[in-house]
Amino acid sequence: MANKKIIITIDGWSSCGKSTLAKQLARELGYVYIDSGAMYRAITLYFLRNHTNWNNHDDVIDALQHIKLEFQANHKNGSSEMYLNGENVEYVIRDLVVAEKVSEIAAIKEVREFAVKQQQAMGAGKGIVMDGRDIGTVVFPNAELKLFMTADNEVRVKRRYHELYEKNPNVTMDEVRQNLEHRDYIDSHREVSPLRKAEDAIVLDNTTLTPKEQLALALSWVSEKPGEL
Ligand code: DC
Repeated sequence: MANKKIIITIDGWSSCGKSTLAKQLARELGYVYIDSGAMYRAITLYFLRNHTNWNNHDDVIDALQHIKLEFQANHKNGSSEMYLNGENVEYVIRDLVVAEKVSEIAAIKEVREFAVKQQQAMGAGKGIVMDGRDIGTVVFPNAELKLFMTADNEVRVKRRYHELYEKNPNVTMDEVRQNLEHRDYIDSHREVSPLRKAEDAIVLDNTTLTPKEQLALALSWVSEKPGEL
């Protein structure tokens, strides 16, 4: 049977391993991986650097007209990296300064329309794994496989803390915990496309799963889709 490429969406709370799984799946299946959160982070970085008043509608519209987002492959490690107006911002968008503001900016209707339009265009050819908060509900409501990821809160805090600590040893566990709680609250309570599980999404709780185990589980769900694998 010829392989039919599908769209896989992965939504869920902050720091529960969405991108790890999305990358694993993309590699296994030969699909494109798109980190939609990186787009909101890059927009946030632009607003911060340019002192955009994001509470002012006209300023937001004007700023968005000056933002060009692209994903480019890093040929050394094969990963896909975020470029903002031609500059590689993959590293700097992971900073806590960006993380502190990104949920506020991602809640703005015009910002979401700007990002969602580009995300939908990226999925036109299928064969894509995209992770985020509204991918199964808004960006690709007809996706063939939708996952909703979750994990124990403290496990998520520890995972994100270890990631951030490598870049900045001054970061504290409390700062990370507060940031995760703050983002989860805003992401799930905003008016436009709040984080929620799509009705047809499969819940994946990876609190006690190793990356290898979660990949095996996800691949078993992919193999249930007609024509895939
Ligand atoms: O996945 P992440 O932590 O890098 O995402 C950063 C922020 O972007 C997150 O707090 C919420 C927002 N986001 C969103 O609103 N919708 C998406 N599809 C992806 C991310």
